[in-house]
Amino acid sequence: MALKVAPGPKLSERTTLRLGGRAQAEIVVTSPEDADSLGAELARHGASPLVLGWGSNLLAVDEELDLVVVSLEPADPVLLEPAACCAGQEGGKVTVRASGGLMLPKLVNWAAKLGLSGLEGLAGIPGTVGGAVAMNAGSYGRETAELLTRVRIWDLRGGMRWIGPAQWNTGYRRFAPDGGLWPWLALEAEMTLTASSPERVRALVDANLARKKATQPVSTATCGCVFKNPEGLSAGKILDELGFKGKSLGGMCFSPMHANFLVNEGRGTAKAALDLIAKAREAVKAAYGVELELEVRVVR
Ligand code: EPU
Repeated sequence: MALKVAPGPKLSERTTLRLGGRAQAEIVVTSPEDADSLGAELARHGASPLVLGWGSNLLAVDEELDLVVVSLEPADPVLLEPAACCAGQEGGKVTVRASGGLMLPKLVNWAAKLGLSGLEGLAGIPGTVGGAVAMNAGSYGRETAELLTRVRIWDLRGGMRWIGPAQWNTGYRRFAPDGGLWPWLALEAEMTLTASSPERVRALVDANLARKKATQPVSTATCGCVFKNPEGLSAGKILDELGFKGKSLGGMCFSPMHANFLVNEGRGTAKAALDLIAKAREAVKAAYGVELELEVRVVR
């Protein structure tokens, strides 16, 4: 196996917000072992790397980008311990390994079919496993990092290695490998799930999906929540109170369904998105004295 190098993709075609200009090139890591040669390949290109998963938490500017996209090819999830699942072992712990490039919903479905519980809270999060690890993605009180036992990472300083919970720091939408040097990649993740029944796991997954569908604009072009919730407050609620729900500018708007979701109405631009974000931050600062922190990552 070797790294694959492809022409630079347009980020508007690779991000869920459908914004962003063309990158210089794309390096595709086709198997974790390839990561060994990533440092040399990145040096050859010169431009800064952008690690790209599902592109669901990115707001990329519309100009040509002096960036090299690094992406991971997915592999199927594997049951490590015990090697076969799981009838009659209800409550037993099960270790699984998932590729960083795998779509999180595929992992959630795979676990539901096998009756493995633990991932239900992450149902409906549009991301890759690597993206979910890197952002410590979460919903309904559950976070990705809670499940992780080991993560195989690569970074420029330390190369490829497995790290465990003693070697990372996590917080709200934050996962930081000790001494990790940006950029770093989550190549593979191992996690502990609990044997349950397919019916029970499926019911919880479906309930969370229904709740998301009822409260979030899941089928439109968004980048999820734009702002982190400030300590003890809900960014969506504050923005709603201040009249930002449905507020539109240059083809972008705050969702009429949930005020913390930025939506591309079709012909939106990154400039309009950033202008709307600035207006929202100003209004919240004036009304609450709170500086809203971006949850979405701006790519420029
Ligand atoms: N609310 C309003 N108006 C709005 C939006 C929300 O009044 O326009 C109220 C809701 O009624 C609720 C409260 O604000 O009482 C909180 O809203 P919600 O339950 O939708 O949760 P959230 O805090 O806005 C967080 C995460 C979401 C995650 C949901 C479900 C952040 C920034 N957001 O949203 O994560 O899906 O909880 O667990 O932490 C993301 O990270 O991109 C994301 C979407």
